[in-house]
Amino acid sequence: DITHVVLTGGIGSRLWPLSRKSQPKQYLELFDGQSLFEKTVARNENVSNKTIVVGNIENYKMSNTIMLKFNKPFTHIVEAIPRNTAAAIAFAAFASKPEDVLLITPSDHIIEGNDLYDTALKQAIALANQDYLVTFGIKPTKPETGYGYIEFDDENVIAFHEKPNLETATTYLENGNYFWNSGLFCFKSGAFLTELEKQEPEVYTTSKLAWEANKNGFLDYELSLKIPSISVDFAVMERSTNIKVVPTHFDWSDLGSFESVYDYLVHKGHPTDVSGNIVIGTAIHTSFVGLENCLLIHTDDALLVLQKENSQEVKQVYQQLELLE
Ligand code: GDD
Ligand code: MG
Repeated sequence: DITHVVLTGGIGSRLWPLSRKSQPKQYLELFDGQSLFEKTVARNENVSNKTIVVGNIENYKMSNTIMLKFNKPFTHIVEAIPRNTAAAIAFAAFASKPEDVLLITPSDHIIEGNDLYDTALKQAIALANQDYLVTFGIKPTKPETGYGYIEFDDENVIAFHEKPNLETATTYLENGNYFWNSGLFCFKSGAFLTELEKQEPEVYTTSKLAWEANKNGFLDYELSLKIPSISVDFAVMERSTNIKVVPTHFDWSDLGSFESVYDYLVHKGHPTDVSGNIVIGTAIHTSFVGLENCLLIHTDDALLVLQKENSQEVKQVYQQLELLE
């Protein structure tokens, strides 16, 4: 059985003010009237025969509303508090049979080229059936520090490096034998849990305890607090020697920062001025003087102006605002 596991825990704080806690980016109907969440479920509808949504108490209703459109049974796992992706994936694995192949996808990415996507999935499923933990590699175009890098040698993965600094990312790019990690994973439930138990036993044990006490998929707050918050990339992928990579050829963007939003929009024909500045969210006339590659983002209650290259720092703005709340 192939189970599609949709991760929907993040708030996309690097996309503030477009994205925020009450309206994370995966639920914004930014693209032909559909949210990224809905597009993600639709993209994987035919390859999987089960769907598990792993979200949290804050987005439970938003996910549910979208899932009902598909008119198919699904499992909803509702976290009391986000404990990052290692635990989120563990819950889906505990809810599955050890031999089930899980296709883990973020809910907030853009993927175009369905045939190429399906081809990559077929390769991944074949490898997952041989008990590998499978990653999907994207050909890097810049030394992005917000991604994981997969160091490869032909078909073999040498190592996985999560979020390197700029200097390291630059050497990776020059080197040539590195992919970006797309954030999609494919593995048997049992293979993942075995590896998690080996690499990060505390996450394994505490998330198992929390899972065993779940009520209709809802997790307990106190038990969840005990789970270390660590991403699957740091917890498992960087440490495992059992990883394979499927090189992909579909169009991919994680829209994870304003830099990737900028690249995506410009690629799609969004207007820029002569210095590469763009405006999102308002039609009022806007001029940039002495500025290059800037974005101006306008929403009903906030305005953000930033240099494209500083996109990762928006997270700090968001965190400061959260403290003021
Ligand atoms: N249920 C649940 N609970 N989902 C979560 C949680 C959580 O606590 N934390 C994050 N997620 C979801 C997010 O909503 C997103 O869909 C996905 O898991 C990945 O989390 P991100 O927080 O977006 O990770 P990232 O973008 O920093 O890094 C990952 O993706 C990159 C590509 O976009 C890593 O896998 C990198 O290696 C990768 O390059
Ligand atoms: Mg992301």
